[in-house]
Amino acid sequence: VKRIGVLTSGGDAPGMNAAVRAVVRTALYMGIEVVGIRRGWHGLINGDMYRMTAVDVSHIINEGGTMLYTARSDEFRTKDGRKKAYDNCKLFGLDGIVAIGGDGTFAGALALSTEYPISVVGIPGTIDNDIGCSHYSIGYDTAANTAVEAIDKIRDTMQSHERCSVIEVMGHRAGNLALYVGIATGATAVLIPEEPWDFEEDVAEKIRNARLAGRTHFMVIVAEGAKRKADGTLDNEVVGNGTAGHQVADLIRAELGLDPRVTVLGHIQRGGSPTARDRVTATRMGYVAVKALAEGKTNRVVVRYFGEIKDVDMVEALKQENRLDEEEKQVLRAMTFS
Ligand code: F6P
Repeated sequence: VKRIGVLTSGGDAPGMNAAVRAVVRTALYMGIEVVGIRRGWHGLINGDMYRMTAVDVSHIINEGGTMLYTARSDEFRTKDGRKKAYDNCKLFGLDGIVAIGGDGTFAGALALSTEYPISVVGIPGTIDNDIGCSHYSIGYDTAANTAVEAIDKIRDTMQSHERCSVIEVMGHRAGNLALYVGIATGATAVLIPEEPWDFEEDVAEKIRNARLAGRTHFMVIVAEGAKRKADGTLDNEVVGNGTAGHQVADLIRAELGLDPRVTVLGHIQRGGSPTARDRVTATRMGYVAVKALAEGKTNRVVVRYFGEIKDVDMVEALKQENRLDEEEKQVLRAMTFS
C-alpha cells in the first residue's frame, strides 16, 4: 500500500478532525502517503483532493467540524458517479480509502469497492451513535455533553419560574442521544423515534406523578424524530405543524393547562471542541483503520466492541441495525416512574 485517501461524509461530528489527524499521522508513520479528499464522495468524483502532510493536521485534534468538509452525494449513488470516482482513484494513485461517517457513507464505500479494485475502511462518525455494528460512534459524547450543559441552564430558569420545559434534541431515526441525555439530566419524560408515544401514558401521567410528588418544574426531552402513536388519545387538531417538541408542548398546554417553553437544541449539538473520550476514540479508530489497509484488508469497518477497538467485515457490519441500550431504557423507566 503506497497511498491512501481519507474523507468525511454525511453529517459532521466533533472528533472527525481527530480521526483525520490520526489517519494522516499513522499512515506517515507507516510510510504511506495520504491524500485528503474534500467534501466526501463528491470530492472523489470531482478530483477535489490534495496530498496531506503532518503540518496539515496540526492543531485540529481540539476542533469541531471537519477540516475536509463534508457533503451528501447523490451522484455517488449512481454507477456513473462511482465510475468517475474510481477513475480519480487511479489518477491520484490511491490504493485505499478511509471513509469517516455513518451508515450511508459505508454503503457508498462498499458499493465502490465491490465494483472496483479499491480497498475501503469505514470509521463510525455521527452524533446519533446509531451505527448498529459499533458500541460507539465519534461525536456522541461531545454532543451529549453539549446537550446536557444547555439543558442544565434551561432547567435553572424553568425551575425559578416553575415552568414545564420541552427540549428537542437531535435524532431523526435514533433515540440513543435522547435516552442518554434524558438520564443525565433527570428528565420527567423522554420520547424517542423507536417507540411512538401516547400522550396520556408517556407524558401526562409522568408530569402528574411529578406534580403529586411536590415538583413544580417538569422537563420533557423529545427526539426530533419522535412520533405520536397513530391511535393517539387526542384530536390531531390540537397539535399544529410544529416540530416534534412543539407538538408535545401544544398537547401539554391543551390537556394539562401548563404553559410550557420549547427549546430546539438543533445543530448546536453537532459543533464544539470534542471531549477527551471522542478525541481518544477517534485517534484509536484512525490508527486501526490505517493498520487494516496497510495489512491489505478491504471492506472493513472499525468498531468499538465494549472496550476494544477493532476492524470487522463491512458486509456483516452493515446488516446490523441500530439498537437502543436495553439497560438504559430500563433505568430511564425507573427514573421517570415517580
Ligand atoms: O448527524 C445526524 C443528524 O444529526 C440527525 O440526528 C439529524 O436528523 C440530521 O443529522 C440533520 O442533519 P442536517 O441538518 O445536516 O441535514
